[in-house]
Amino acid sequence: MINDVSLMYECVSAIGNSLKLDEMLEEVFKTFILRTGGIGAQYIANDQATSSVSVGREFNAPQTLNRNTKSFEIHEILSVAYVIDIALENGNLLFLYKKNDDLEYIGRMFSSFSVKLNNAIDACISVQQLQEHNVALKTIVEAEQKKNELNEQMMVNQSRMAVMGEMIGMIAHQWRQPITIIGMIANNTLFDIELEEHTSAKLVEDLNSINYQVRYLSETIDDFRNFFRPDKELQETSGRQLYADLLAILGNSMEQNNIKINCKGDCEHSFISYKNELVQVFLNIVSNAKDAFLENEITNREITIECTKQEDAMCFTLEDNAGGIPKDVVDHIFEPYFTTKPEEHGTGLGLYMSHTIITNHLKGVIGVRTSSSGTKFFIRLPKLMKQKEL
Ligand SMILES: Nc1ncnc2c1ncn2[C@@H]1O[C@H](COP(=O)(O)OP(=O)(O)OP(=O)(O)O)[C@@H](O)[C@H]1O
Ligand SMILES: [Mg+2]
Repeated sequence: MINDVSLMYECVSAIGNSLKLDEMLEEVFKTFILRTGGIGAQYIANDQATSSVSVGREFNAPQTLNRNTKSFEIHEILSVAYVIDIALENGNLLFLYKKNDDLEYIGRMFSSFSVKLNNAIDACISVQQLQEHNVALKTIVEAEQKKNELNEQMMVNQSRMAVMGEMIGMIAHQWRQPITIIGMIANNTLFDIELEEHTSAKLVEDLNSINYQVRYLSETIDDFRNFFRPDKELQETSGRQLYADLLAILGNSMEQNNIKINCKGDCEHSFISYKNELVQVFLNIVSNAKDAFLENEITNREITIECTKQEDAMCFTLEDNAGGIPKDVVDHIFEPYFTTKPEEHGTGLGLYMSHTIITNHLKGVIGVRTSSSGTKFFIRLPKLMKQKEL
């Protein structure tokens, strides 16, 4: 009754219809046992990692399974039931039958499907492994991404700390003069009191002078504090304002080192950006120019900042005449920890941070052109809009 072609065709076409091992084998089992009068079927995988599958009546697998991959065996169970055991490459297929004259024929037919079954099972296992690899790979990529973000954050902090150290030096410098003046006024007043030469008019004048100096001290602190306030919000600013903030911090140092600095072009044009971050970038570039002026002993020192408004962007160039960046150095300046300065003078994070701020945070572009006479940094910022203006 079972030696017809349509049975063979149905069984063979049930193989490999899914790439999920359990789904694929379930379909094979159902078709095989339904069309051949079986009552149960199982797949016992050799490898613990691959799950075993069963359909129909549950039964214990024979103690010794067939290991001959080309053929089949029939195990008798208590003289009433029989198990056809087909050995495949990765496991055994077991079919449970009641006593049946056609068992030999069924076994031969099933084992003739071995190659197709092996291929289908291999394909399912490969797909499963691929999916597992993908999950593992995704986890690794995510972990690496987290690590990178953490590293970047650490560098931002490190760079801010470096700038902060420099600034504390500048605050100390800017405070030295007014503190000396306050001390002098106090001493003079004490002296006048001792000589009984003090008058209330003179005292008022002295106290006003002290107040004036204290105001100056407090303004200096405000300038620095504003810079260190993290930029959480976009704000309206202009080239002129960036320039003013830059001078509030570096102006003294520029004067002391005889560096002329000026701002030209569309400086008054206002645009939306993370202002303090931009000031940090300008600060890094201008500090580097100052270092180069000193290192190369340039006499006529000049830095020019030019602002150009474009339809969909704001552009800046910061140019110095400090002797340029050597060819073998310029390719590396945006790399983290790259510095040509002695350890106490440079961390090598200034331009790396500037690059990160411009490209990652402000979605802009930063580049450099250098020659033996000087260096020009280019910054292009696409127009950003405040949330409420979107
Ligand atoms: N305007 C410039 N002229 C000459 N060399 C420059 C100029 N700007 C940058 N460089 C070179 O690029 C290097 C990297 O600059 P970067 O600002 O990243 O680090 P740094 O100044 O060495 O250290 P820091 O982290 O303190 O800023 C500098 O060490 C210097 O050699
Ligand atoms: Mg620097």
